[in-house]
Amino acid sequence: MGCMEGKRGIVFGIANERSYAWYIAKALLEEGAECLFTHIPDEHGKMRARCLAAINALGIEDPWLEPCDVTKDDDLDTVFTRIRARYETLDFIVHSIAFADRQYLKLGNFHTTTREAWSQALDVSAYSLLAMAQRSIDMMPGGGTIIGMTYYGGEKVSPGYNVMGVAKAALEHTARYLAHELGEKNIRINMISGGPLRTLAASAVGGITAAFELQEKKSSLRRNITGEEVGKTAVYLLSDMSSGVTGENIHVDAGFSIVGP
Ligand SMILES: NC(=O)c1ccc[n+]([C@@H]2O[C@H](COP(=O)([O-])OP(=O)(O)OC[C@H]3O[C@@H](n4cnc5c(N)ncnc54)[C@H](O)[C@@H]3O)[C@@H](O)[C@H]2O)c1
Repeated sequence: MGCMEGKRGIVFGIANERSYAWYIAKALLEEGAECLFTHIPDEHGKMRARCLAAINALGIEDPWLEPCDVTKDDDLDTVFTRIRARYETLDFIVHSIAFADRQYLKLGNFHTTTREAWSQALDVSAYSLLAMAQRSIDMMPGGGTIIGMTYYGGEKVSPGYNVMGVAKAALEHTARYLAHELGEKNIRINMISGGPLRTLAASAVGGITAAFELQEKKSSLRRNITGEEVGKTAVYLLSDMSSGVTGENIHVDAGFSIVGP
């Protein structure tokens, strides 16, 4: 029997089979969890089709899959209302979502970031965690767990990560404030700081090739991590194995973040 047997949660952020959210869902399903999913909506339904194909590849033919643009309160309200109508309660949430206009993710152009690009990056990538948490509180009557994905560029300057680094700093601290307030309801919130993975989101980041090279040279394990390794840490954080852990930022980066210059 898997350690997630009997637990049900929602996974935000599968774009395709390379997404961190896909690896997390895979690990959760292998441990017996029941997963509900959302996809970013688009006019022609391409995003839904890609997300659905990725979920099918996880062995789920007919998933619970709803559209949700996390910048829209109505979308979030609809998703949580539908879950409440069908299942009443939730055990976990996976937040694996980020966006910033790639125009501002070029080496050396952080100082050109517009107010609009800043607001958009922080809205999609950081506020959305709070927006999900506030809608899930009454659906986690006995407690629950929430995780989000972050990156080292939220702690230290990582050239090219730019406004996304600012958004990750906001996301990480949002998680701590949420963890403190919701702790009395036994709702735990933790972050996973993952190493670089070749995904759609990563392809928008300036200097990403150098980041991969540096990861292999500088990290303590002298290698990059895999999506599976992040998936296993997600299982730990979303299961009872981590019952005493909240407000943490666990680095799954082969030790990259512990090494100085
Ligand atoms: N790939 C990496 O190197 C890396 C490293 C550390 C952390 N992360 C983080 O992992 C998370 C997942 O990214 P990924 O690398 O798997 O890339 P990805 O492109 O596969 O996933 C990003 C997801 O965000 C979704 N998204 C963007 N804007 C949205 C919106 N307005 N509403 C709803 N969904 C929206 C996309 O549809 C996509 O599913 C992100 O938080 C990212 O910052 C990635």
